[in-house]
Amino acid sequence: MFEFFSKPTYKKVLLSGIQSTGTLHFGNYFGAMKQNIELGNDDAFDSYVFIADYHALTTVKDKEALHRSALEIAAAYIACGLDTNKVTLFRQSSVPEHAELAVILNNVVTMPYLMRAHAFKDHEAKNQEVNVGLFCYPVLMAADILMYKTDVVPVGQDQKQHIEYARDIAGFYNRAWNVEQFKLPQDLIMKDVAVVPGVDGEKMSKSKGNVISLFGDDAEVKKAVMGIVTDSAHPDDKKNPDTNTIFNIHKLFLTHAEIDALRAKFEQGGYGYKQAKDELLETIMKWRMGKKETFDKLMSNPSKIEALLEEGGKRARVRAQQTMKEVRTQVGLE
Ligand code: TYM
Repeated sequence: MFEFFSKPTYKKVLLSGIQSTGTLHFGNYFGAMKQNIELGNDDAFDSYVFIADYHALTTVKDKEALHRSALEIAAAYIACGLDTNKVTLFRQSSVPEHAELAVILNNVVTMPYLMRAHAFKDHEAKNQEVNVGLFCYPVLMAADILMYKTDVVPVGQDQKQHIEYARDIAGFYNRAWNVEQFKLPQDLIMKDVAVVPGVDGEKMSKSKGNVISLFGDDAEVKKAVMGIVTDSAHPDDKKNPDTNTIFNIHKLFLTHAEIDALRAKFEQGGYGYKQAKDELLETIMKWRMGKKETFDKLMSNPSKIEALLEEGGKRARVRAQQTMKEVRTQVGLE
């Protein structure tokens, strides 16, 4: 009866993106996708999940690969349970306002500031050529985030600096035009999955070739799991689970009780690496059950994915156009 007086509740905005640069892997899943799905499907959030295809152009120059990767990301999200009625799932390039906002934000960001970005410094250190798209990558990413007045950005540890940049850039803009346009976004980095290890024990990463693919075929997944790098301990030896890559990957799939049981097997000895890998593979195959079929079915019907992405793009664009109207007015373009 008091509904009339109740204040409208403000929903926090959640946003996250994945570059369409190739195979999706369990680093992407545990580091970001899982949180995006669980929180995104929750009515408490107004959620945006997108395929960062403009960003992918900084490295991918193969149009079929770029296009296929975008479809795979969308299909993977849906197969893993993302509800597209609750989460706006879209391609970045369907909302060209991202590029427009980046062009405007470029004018409050200096070159020395961008030169401090990890990705730029890594390329410099390796003497690799840096295109302008890569150099300005953090500005486009800030545009992605600020466009939707985002509160929270679930990501892996490797994106932390990018979110800090987005916060800084929000402040640079607000101060330059003396407005309160952009709020400062927060990263959401889950401690236990901040850096998911690859089969070599280093951070799982497409560019390092150490991934376990989410929805690659069974043989590919088996090859990756069997290739996990181990030491030369004998099956009977007691092993330290915390420094063991098989354990560190396997635990991501398990409940607390299951982790304790697995930990005990490593610590007691009599648990060889072959058996540990077989059991990890079994867990992964169990995880994939149902999801892999949904993924394959969607991938065999790309027009369905395209339709969902188009619908998401339209929804995102309405929001983006509102922001750009405000921005264009503030800076004097309108
Ligand atoms: P990308 O495509 O490299 O990775 C997508 C997400 O997966 C996470 N991730 C990991 N997390 C834990 N352990 C790992 N081994 C691991 N590997 C990848 C990443 O942290 C990321 O959350 N710049 C972004 C894409 C992007 C974006 C955005 C993200 C563009 N605009 C706006 C958030 C908000 C990227 O390259 O992610």
